Amino acid sequence: MTPASSNTPGFRIVDRLGQKPQPDTAAEIAAGLLSEPASISPKYFYDALGCRLFQAICELPEYYVTRTEAAIFEAHRGEIARVAGTRRQLVDLGAGDCHKASCWFPALDPCRYVAVDVARGIVEAALAEFAAEMPGTEFIGVIDDFSRTLDLGGVLGPEATTFFYPGSSIGNFTPDEATHFLAQVRKHCDAPGSGLLIGVDLVKDLETLERAYDDATGVTAAFNKNVLNHVNRLAGTGFDPGMFGHVALFNTVDSRIEMHLEAAADCAVTVAGRSRRFARGERIHTENSYKYTPASFAALLKRAGFGTISRWTDARGWFGVFFGAP
Ligand code: AVI
Repeated sequence: MTPASSNTPGFRIVDRLGQKPQPDTAAEIAAGLLSEPASISPKYFYDALGCRLFQAICELPEYYVTRTEAAIFEAHRGEIARVAGTRRQLVDLGAGDCHKASCWFPALDPCRYVAVDVARGIVEAALAEFAAEMPGTEFIGVIDDFSRTLDLGGVLGPEATTFFYPGSSIGNFTPDEATHFLAQVRKHCDAPGSGLLIGVDLVKDLETLERAYDDATGVTAAFNKNVLNHVNRLAGTGFDPGMFGHVALFNTVDSRIEMHLEAAADCAVTVAGRSRRFARGERIHTENSYKYTPASFAALLKRAGFGTISRWTDARGWFGVFFGAP
């Protein structure tokens, strides 16, 4: 049995997933597939293969997001660190292998580093490595799906906190969900000197946006279709991913890239013991990726309670790095 909290020399793991009852995954998937239009939550992209395909997406020439953010961080690291402050507790939301945050360790010199992610094995391996190298920093892994509730009880000390949320993952929430989530982050920012360092993809020309989500090599198409393999394993649906085409389009009204899977012919799968038919051309909505203007994201940060905002962008204005303080 997995302990809820375990100690290994140099770091500590708090396993919230092991502590809380988890929602009924099969029922959640069935509800999405039985609704009109059908949908699958983007969280199901990330099985083992999906994680590897996402890593490959980040290296695609068309997917400018990861490298543009990294270049902004690199170009402005000193100034961003001065604004964010040093010796804070650094909370890394969706830490994964902790690589992005670790690039900030020399500049931010965190007193405590808290990696929040669902992937326990990946977090543990990373923390073991960093804890051995940085004896002056406390390392804690929180294993949780923070998109529902951000539960940092018993983890944070009284020191100021810098939250780190890179990669434009905030774009996968609706603007209302994003405001609600960032307001939860804001509640942990009462100690003077606290704030949120966040990366956000910005609105740009339609062709660049759509190519980033429909690359010539077909990696994003494979990532999208692989969600059906994962759903088959979780809910016994029996999808044939080869029967569905990848669709990525920019919805200008809602300012979001939408990904869908479109049935190439009439077909049927099993959902909650019943047959769910898909007509040729019918779509399953799999992801939204909202794109903001500098002004619209600053307004969202203000609604979430961050009144003082600094911003850095690349020369083309494709990506924004924001620091919000109360
Ligand atoms: C994880 N997230 C920020 C990515 C995005 O750009 O919305 C997921 C992704 N979907 C297709 N390509 C990348």
